Amino acid sequence: MNAATVTRLISEETISRRVKELGERITADYRGTDNLLFITVLKGAFMFAADLLREVDVPCGIEFIRASSYDRSTRSSGRVELACDLDIGGHDVLLVEDIVDTGLTISRIEEEFRKQRPSSLRLCTLLDKPSARKFPVRIDYSGFQVPDRFVVGYGIDYAEKHRELPFIGTIDENP
Ligand code: IMP
Ligand code: MG
Repeated sequence: MNAATVTRLISEETISRRVKELGERITADYRGTDNLLFITVLKGAFMFAADLLREVDVPCGIEFIRASSYDRSTRSSGRVELACDLDIGGHDVLLVEDIVDTGLTISRIEEEFRKQRPSSLRLCTLLDKPSARKFPVRIDYSGFQVPDRFVVGYGIDYAEKHRELPFIGTIDENP
């Protein structure tokens, strides 16, 4: 894929409005808790998590884990590499992910985390591709449903490119 074209799918303004709404819902749901911990799945969710955190009005911590299932391609390798040494026992954990696609990545992360017995474990994803699902995943907070196309921007990459775009766009695999 050379000089791939990015076609705008979700504008900066629409993202920002939706992040605000998610922040309000999370604030309402976690009001009164003092153990909320955002766990951001790197790298794709870093921008979303940074914006979302500023819209949540409940004291909370933030941690990061590294997960990757893509080699430099637009197809999942089917394996998930996890880098995580967090102690989450007793926390109300909110996993913050960029995209739930087949569901493999988030299922693997949740499986690992449940072993540590957090007080609660919920999932907030910016994007959901329901038609690509192979592993069932319960999504508590979802920004947008998107078609089964490869998307980039707002932190999300294709082979480490396009993360800097302020909007979300689709990328043409065969320009
Ligand atoms: P899953 O394991 O198939 O659910 O894939 C989830 C992970 O793959 C996400 O966390 C993303 O990092 C990555 N991913 C899935 N779809 C896309 C896409 O359209 N663009 C960029 N990354 C994607
Ligand atoms: Mg990811």
